[in-house]
Formats: sequence, C-alpha cells, structure tokens
Amino acid sequence: MGLRIIPGMLYDRLVRPALFAADPERAHEATLRLLAALGPLLRPLRRYMGPVDDPRLARTVFGLRFPNPIGLAAGFDKQATCLDAWEGLGFGFVEVGTVTAEPQPGNPRPRLFRLPADRALVNRLGFNSDGAEAVARRLAGAGPRRIPVGVNLGKTRAVPIERAVADYEASFDRLAPLADYVTVNVSSPNTPGLRDLQAASRLRELVSALVARSRRLGPGRAGRPRPLLVKLSPDLADADLDAAVDAALEAGADGFVATNTTLRREGLSSPIAEAGGLSGRPLAARARAVVAAVHRRTGGRVPVIGVGGLFDADDVRAMLDAGASLVQLYTGFVYGGPFTVGRICRGLLA
Ligand code: FNR
Repeated sequence: MGLRIIPGMLYDRLVRPALFAADPERAHEATLRLLAALGPLLRPLRRYMGPVDDPRLARTVFGLRFPNPIGLAAGFDKQATCLDAWEGLGFGFVEVGTVTAEPQPGNPRPRLFRLPADRALVNRLGFNSDGAEAVARRLAGAGPRRIPVGVNLGKTRAVPIERAVADYEASFDRLAPLADYVTVNVSSPNTPGLRDLQAASRLRELVSALVARSRRLGPGRAGRPRPLLVKLSPDLADADLDAAVDAALEAGADGFVATNTTLRREGLSSPIAEAGGLSGRPLAARARAVVAAVHRRTGGRVPVIGVGGLFDADDVRAMLDAGASLVQLYTGFVYGGPFTVGRICRGLLA
C-alpha cells in the first residue's frame, strides 16, 4: 500500500505545487519534454500504476482491445512525442493530436489558463501543430504498441472552410495508416469557422469523403477499416446535435467523441475574462448529457467516447452509465497527476 501512496503524496505535495507555480504552458512543455526524454524507460512503470491491466476492466470496442477504458484525451500529446509514457502511466488508450495537414504555430501566448478553484482550464491554443508529416514520422518510428493509439485531425487555419475536406483528406492519407482509429475534430472553439463543419450538410460531405478513403486504405489492426469518429461540441443546441449525429451516421461514421471544450462560463466560482474553451469540472454535467443524448439518438448502435470533467471513478462510472463505451481525461489528469489512471481503475473495481 505504502509503495503506492508515498509517490502519490510526493506528487501532490511537491511536484504539482511546483508545476502549478509555473506558467501553465511552460509547465506542460516541461512535463512533455521529461516524458519524451525518458521514453521507453517509462513503459515498465505500468505494472506499478495499479490494476490498469485487470482483465475485468478490459473491453473490445470498434474491434480493438482496450486494456482499460481510460484514455488520454486529444490535446495533451498533440505532436505524439510521448507515446511510451502513456502506456507506462497506465492509460488504456491515447488520442494524439489535434494534427493539422500543414505545420502551424497556433495562437499567440498566453493561451492556457488554470482555474484551480473550479478544477478547470481555459485554453485557446488554436491547433499548434508540427503538421501531419512530422507527426506521421514519429508514429512510424515509435516502438510496438500495447494500447490503441487514435489520431485526431483538425483543419489547417489558413485553409478556408470551403476547402476543408481536401485539407482533412491530406492529413488522413498521411496519418490514418499509422492510427488505430481516427477522430475528426470539428468542435474546437479556437479555429474560426471550424464548428460550422458540424452543420449536417458539411459534416455529411466531410465524413463521407474520409469514410471512402478509410475503406480504400483497407483493414487496420482490428482487421477492418480504421474506425472514424466525430468529436462533438457541448455547445450545440439539441436539434443541431441530433442533426449532426444523424448526418455523421448516414455518412458512415463509426462513433463519436463527446465532448470538446465549451465556450460557456456557467457555474464558475471565479470569473475569467480570457477567451477560449473551458474544460474540467464545470463541463462534466453537460458532457454527460451530450453523451446520453448521442447514445439515445443512435440507439446505442455506435460507441461513444465520453470526455469532459472526469476526475475520479465515480465520474467515470456516471459517464459509462450515460452510455459511453470508453472515456478520456485531460483536465482531470492535469490536476490528478501521474497516478490518476491507476486510482480510477482501482475505484472502478471496488
Ligand atoms: C484540449 N482539447 C482538445 N481537443 C481536441 O480534439 N483537440 C485538441 O487539440 C485539444 N486541445 C486541448 C488543449 C487543452 C489545453 C485542453 C484543456 C483541452 C479538449 C480535450 O480533448 C477534451 O475534449 C476537453 O478538455 C474536455 O475534457 P476534460 O479536460 O474536462 O477532461
């Protein structure tokens, strides 16, 4: 017991305060640099992280085997520099990206803010990306995988919305062969016009084009074409959400990720004037409601990955009960630290 608790306490008392004293994006970059530098050395840590490989937590979704249902959400490892670390820290899967077809710097700094009293973050990174070619090289060069790796694709900022399909196709062609599943991100609030791609006609066109390419590409690790998921915004009105879900399904999407960050600011104890997407605790109820709505609308025919405001096993259980087949964390991992996945897995088994 002590062996598990002491490193957790050291993290809570020493490491997190040090990280939280630094500028949020600098702290994030330092963390990624450390994890990337340690590389394959981190993989053996998995066996000390808790019951993350307990067979009772394993599940097969999209024909892929997930050792546990807890994934790292898109945006944490945008450039796919730390794949070994996510396995070592106990995650059941990881979604890298968002990747854009062309390299781009994202928005000017500062663009990431902590709201500790609300256990939340606000970000307006705006898809800082090394671009599809660089990320593809990293994925191709990584060692053998024990957890599924999804790739999340976004639109290059300079490309107008009318040419978005070709832009996503270029990223898809380079990255899908290296991915276990692909997520189409049409829901980040930080790229102007991106969320308009959730309108039924645009979404149908985009998803149809990528599904056609996925079929042409042939089977991935699951022995069938790579699953194509659509990541949804929590800010869609009910009717627009239904329309987006219907359009994506008609076009052949294999599932959904719900949700991205929100532009809403309800329920915050400390008001924040910074523009950007809000994540963490204040998003939890809405994200869960969207997962339930998507599950209802699809009649449970396709899997939904639930994401938004998950911090502990109770949060995860509620998300699974709402209809999610898998979950992801970002903000909960920032606040919870390296032992978060093991702690949640232990709680799920209890
Ligand atoms: C994100 N998120 C995100 N999503 C995405 O599809 N592509 C991305 O590049 C990013 N980037 C990103 C950066 C930062 C700093 C944050 C906090 C979030 C959204 C993320 O994947 C997730 O959908 C939301 O953050 C909600 O989950 P949490 O954070 O409440 O667990």
